[in-house]
Amino acid sequence: MRLARIAGTGHFLPERIVTNKDLEKVMDTSDEWIQERTGIKERRFVEPGTGSTDLGFEAAKAALDEAGWGPEDLDFIIFATLSPDMYFPGDGCFLQNLLGVDDIGALDIRNQCTGFVYSLSIADAYIRMGMYDRILVVGSEVHSTAMSMTTEGRDTAVLFGDGAGAACIEVTDGSEGSQFLWHRLHSNGAFAEDLCMPAPTPKRKPWISKEMLDEGLFFPQMNGREVFRNAVTKFPEVIKEVLETQSLTLDDLKLVIPHQANERITEGVRKRVGGPPERVFSNIAKYGNTTAASIPIALSEVVKSGMIERGDLICTVAFGSGFTWGANLFHY
Ligand code: COA
Repeated sequence: MRLARIAGTGHFLPERIVTNKDLEKVMDTSDEWIQERTGIKERRFVEPGTGSTDLGFEAAKAALDEAGWGPEDLDFIIFATLSPDMYFPGDGCFLQNLLGVDDIGALDIRNQCTGFVYSLSIADAYIRMGMYDRILVVGSEVHSTAMSMTTEGRDTAVLFGDGAGAACIEVTDGSEGSQFLWHRLHSNGAFAEDLCMPAPTPKRKPWISKEMLDEGLFFPQMNGREVFRNAVTKFPEVIKEVLETQSLTLDDLKLVIPHQANERITEGVRKRVGGPPERVFSNIAKYGNTTAASIPIALSEVVKSGMIERGDLICTVAFGSGFTWGANLFHY
């Protein structure tokens, strides 16, 4: 039987650390406010000239190394980002070129914070159906250059950071007890405008203008309370849903790796999941919210630190703009 499993993981973070105190210098905020409401202490920002493809490339090389693959072993690339280097083409094509692989397919996924969860499900499906044997999945974001670093933009500017993570997914027969089990994916476009970047937009003519800039439409717009209210319910709901597809329960889980949106949301997930607090992973204090990159960064960190071993039952779960949400269940 054809199944898929994680062969290697990797991550990459820009060197520059930006603390809450650093943000205090450019906007009316405070370390206390940020830590209390979000759990974030610091995040990483790129230097100008570095894009999400560059970060993704570094994470991809690390994942390929861990898998023992060269770029020439790849059959396909899936790249999740909401901050591509260009409006088009997608980062997947740029990454393919950086990796020096000739003509394999490259798919960009635009599912924001849930992008990596959606991407893993696609990699698993392609491998199960026999289309490919080895797929590189990348989540990468550069937020720092596209946020309003002012008091006006402080509700989102304090949340997001830059970074990238990647995973190599390979075909397996499941005999080693390491495989994807199932995925659940959701979206609800009724909330699309509660977390979005409205411009530039071909719906307007011209599609890019000074008025749009003046209105701040190039910056993320967020209804923080609506996001929070939905996230705390949807995270635990979809974890249970994906477990039920395999007749498993919360007690069977070694680790839940939630998208790192906000420590208070993660705390809510902890209460609903039960067990020791470390069963629900968190690294938001160090990196902030890195959108599609947060799960693969976390996954790579827990592998490298020895927190998880081959065969452990893991759930990766995300919620974000769209609204989109979903979960992957796998034996690592
Ligand atoms: N620093 C200081 N004060 C800030 C601030 C900041 N960075 N951002 C907002 N405030 C102020 C507001 O202006 C408001 O002031 P007022 O009472 O004088 O009007 C006050 O703090 C409370 O704002 P509010 O938006 O009600 O705070 P909140 O308790 O809802 O917390 C979030 C705001 C963004 C932290 C919270 O809504 C949240 O975490 N939402 C989910 C966000 C998220 O996870 N997004 C990514 C999804 S993937």
